[in-house]
Amino acid sequence: MENLDILCKKIISKIDEADDLNTLNAVRIDYLGKKGEITKLMKELTNLTHEEKKSYGKNINTLKVKVLDSIENKKVYLEKKIILDNINKERLDITLPERSYSSGHIHPISHTIEEVIEIFKPMGFSVAEGPDIEDDFHNFTALNFPPDHPAREMHDTFFLNESNNGEKLLMRTHTSPVQIRVMKDNEPPIRVLAPGRTYRCDYDITHTPMFHQVEGLVIDKKVNMGHLKGCLTTFVESFFGINNLPVRFRPSYFPFTEPSAEVDIGCQRKDGEFKIGDGGEWLEILGCGMVHHNVLKACGLDPNEYQGFAFGVGVERIAMLKYGITDLRMFFDCDLRWIKHYGFSFLDKFDGNN
Ligand code: PHE
Repeated sequence: MENLDILCKKIISKIDEADDLNTLNAVRIDYLGKKGEITKLMKELTNLTHEEKKSYGKNINTLKVKVLDSIENKKVYLEKKIILDNINKERLDITLPERSYSSGHIHPISHTIEEVIEIFKPMGFSVAEGPDIEDDFHNFTALNFPPDHPAREMHDTFFLNESNNGEKLLMRTHTSPVQIRVMKDNEPPIRVLAPGRTYRCDYDITHTPMFHQVEGLVIDKKVNMGHLKGCLTTFVESFFGINNLPVRFRPSYFPFTEPSAEVDIGCQRKDGEFKIGDGGEWLEILGCGMVHHNVLKACGLDPNEYQGFAFGVGVERIAMLKYGITDLRMFFDCDLRWIKHYGFSFLDKFDGNN
């Protein structure tokens, strides 16, 4: 009996000391495993008399139950402890202030170009690109600018020092040279938009030496001025988000279109305030016209078979009007405060009404 008491204390203290599940399991195997001490004692019972068996057997059994209970309790305790330890380790300190982060903004020029593309996409237009550095042929000659014609001077061209086979290269003064590249490389029908940078030697409150245009070109059989008017009226109405916006096609001149027109939209200037819409006044926003037969010929197209229209929109101009930006030069000053105010988030939708 005494021996069993001593043994019991010894086992219980080992269970108490076990501070992880592996150690606890080792204790269980030492005493209750196949070759464990308690198991051995149980086996030895067969050698005892019936009387001895009765009392000793009962005591051993009590010891076994006690040890099993203690092991089980300790196991539950250790398992809980593991969970609690993990919870403590992974605890989030929700009282910490958030880390500051700043996200970039989309420049109003990029945003406006995307808006224009989104409006023309359902009308079947795809996007084309051309180089910023052009030659005289694509920027002027193929576009029906006669040599030494004053129209070339209207453009305040930046010429480069390098020459291309004796011909001086230049910074394109408009996106119209992309018309030539597209017509030379593709069979009609053609419907393209060509957004991009353009350059003219000019700098004041309404001019910067670099600015953006979106060119449009449609070439097909039987294209007429009605198509031009419908297409551009749809564009201005949806860009400014105003149904039945007054639109006027005013006769104008460009060497590469005939007839040529400038498009004005209705507006109102009252008490220093400016509003787009029905106000009895007009504001010029883009140039357009039917592609000149000389331009078609320069691109190898037969003007008796194909006709088309083209237009060019100043991106800064329409962005300023739509978003109330008053100083053109701010577009290119790289002032982060300005970009944060006038820029767009990646999530802004182009629905023609924002
Ligand atoms: N390229 C002209 C400009 O820069 C705009 C334009 C394009 C006009 C296409 C008519 C047709 O002023």
